[in-house]
Amino acid sequence: MADQFDLTIIGSGPGGYVCAIRAAQLGMKVAVVEKWATLGGTCLNIGCIPSKALLHASELFEEAGHGFKALGIDIPAPQLNLPQMMNHKAETVASNVGGVDYLFKKNKITVFRGIGSIPSAGKVLVTPQSGPQTEIATKNIVIATGSVSANLPGIEIDEKQVVTSTGALTLEQVPNRLVVIGAGVIGLELGSVWMRLGAQVTVVEYLDRILPGMDSEVARQFQRMLQKQGMEFKLSSKVAGIEKQEDGSLKINVEPAKGGEAEVLEADVALVAIGRKPMTEGLGLDIAGVALDERGRVRVDAQYKSSVDGIYAIGDVIAGPMLAHKAEDEGIAIAEILAGQAGHVNYAAIPAVVYTNPEVASVGKTEDELKAEGIDYKIGKFPFTANGRAKAMLATQGFVKILADVETDRVLGAHIVGKNAGEMIHELVTLMEFSGASEDLARTTHAHPTLSEAIREAALALGDGAIHI
Ligand code: FAD
Ligand code: NAI
Repeated sequence: MADQFDLTIIGSGPGGYVCAIRAAQLGMKVAVVEKWATLGGTCLNIGCIPSKALLHASELFEEAGHGFKALGIDIPAPQLNLPQMMNHKAETVASNVGGVDYLFKKNKITVFRGIGSIPSAGKVLVTPQSGPQTEIATKNIVIATGSVSANLPGIEIDEKQVVTSTGALTLEQVPNRLVVIGAGVIGLELGSVWMRLGAQVTVVEYLDRILPGMDSEVARQFQRMLQKQGMEFKLSSKVAGIEKQEDGSLKINVEPAKGGEAEVLEADVALVAIGRKPMTEGLGLDIAGVALDERGRVRVDAQYKSSVDGIYAIGDVIAGPMLAHKAEDEGIAIAEILAGQAGHVNYAAIPAVVYTNPEVASVGKTEDELKAEGIDYKIGKFPFTANGRAKAMLATQGFVKILADVETDRVLGAHIVGKNAGEMIHELVTLMEFSGASEDLARTTHAHPTLSEAIREAALALGDGAIHI
């Protein structure tokens, strides 16, 4: 039996590790149970961080090949050194997971390696790969076990040729033809990586649009931009099966979503990116009496408490967007709640970013949602083609779109397609966090020349008019 802890967290992803650090800062004695060899969860090991390392490197490769000439930089065609690009990715991951080790030591957090399960409230059992089990006595438990890739029935993932995002981050060579199943965030980000490195990419999507949940005007225009880059789309289509052929290639049977004649796509690699599902396997939640919702997520109340006193859950394993920063903020909130403070997450102002080129960034309501909810809104838009800095950078693709309440002028949502959209969106997140109006933004001085001026111009367009269009 290990010492008594105030808090034991199962899972060391962005939800779990951030919760652990805040709880320790607030004076709690904290344990974290992690089954993987390294800390940091999906995000640091096989998600956000490695994908961004490859997105950055592949974007520069593409720019060096096609973008430099127009800027007066003549260089020979760049040569791809994929093993070195993968080294860069591995070093980035190692440096980030090492950072979590350091922070845990600094905050005196105890790590138990092994699979955590919950025999009952107040107890966590740790089963290591080898050796004896340990039982942890703990006042409170936070489940932060995250999510895993969903799969299609009848399709076998080998992580070499038929891959999830995990395999797509470690391919040993650039496939000639990559078929991506699912036009969501993973499909478009990792599809972009391999397209920039030379693959011919076809995306098969069940719905009649890409990026469901994002503003549909943004998604439409963004799809056109990706098509111009060479990405092909088969919308309203589903994959009925994948067969390995004798020559080693894949035959992918694609049917119209509503049924009808099938077509065959040939590919070297298929990436299954149809969403992720909550990870609750092996926790023994049925024994502990922890209830799940209709989609297999841990059911929690507004204070993250499950159906059992003393057991809480955060991050991808509960409802809400599967985003690292949402998990982190829930981690801070539950630590504060357990310390008797008023922990809180504002779900109306959680940004979402697709790290492609151009980037897509969004916060708050989409136009589709405002229509469905019958809210009277006005739209302010400004294109990067009319922004001086964007012209200087040859980055004129995209636009800023701000949605505000007709009566109160309060900003309800904002959507940006463009270079650095993922950095720029935070001005709007902060504005929404303070319940700001579009006039507040329109009257705020923005440095010239910056891409952010397009945001102010979109806000001006909601009032007396933008200046530069
Ligand atoms: P996770 O990060 O999934 O961590 C869960 C941890 O729990 C894991 O370490 C797992 O080993 C451990 N665990 C599970 N069960 C047990 C058990 N029984 N015992 C012990 N340990 C256990 N989000 C963004 O916001 N931005 C991005 O750019 C982004 N990019 C992504 C790219 C990819 C390819 C993927 C797959 C995801 C990406 N995400 C991104 C999503 C992001 O990774 C998740 O939202 C985030 O990691 C969720 O954090 P979490 O703490 O809830 O769980
Ligand atoms: P997703 O939910 O974003 O997209 C899945 C797509 O697959 C949807 O468009 C869906 O309609 C489609 N689909 C579902 N079943 C299908 C089928 N049978 N055939 C064809 N298409 C089908 O899920 P994705 O891309 O797998 O990502 C999982 C999660 O990871 C996301 O929810 C996202 O929050 C997170 N993530 C976030 C990133 C970021 O913030 N930049 C990057 C990568 C992942």
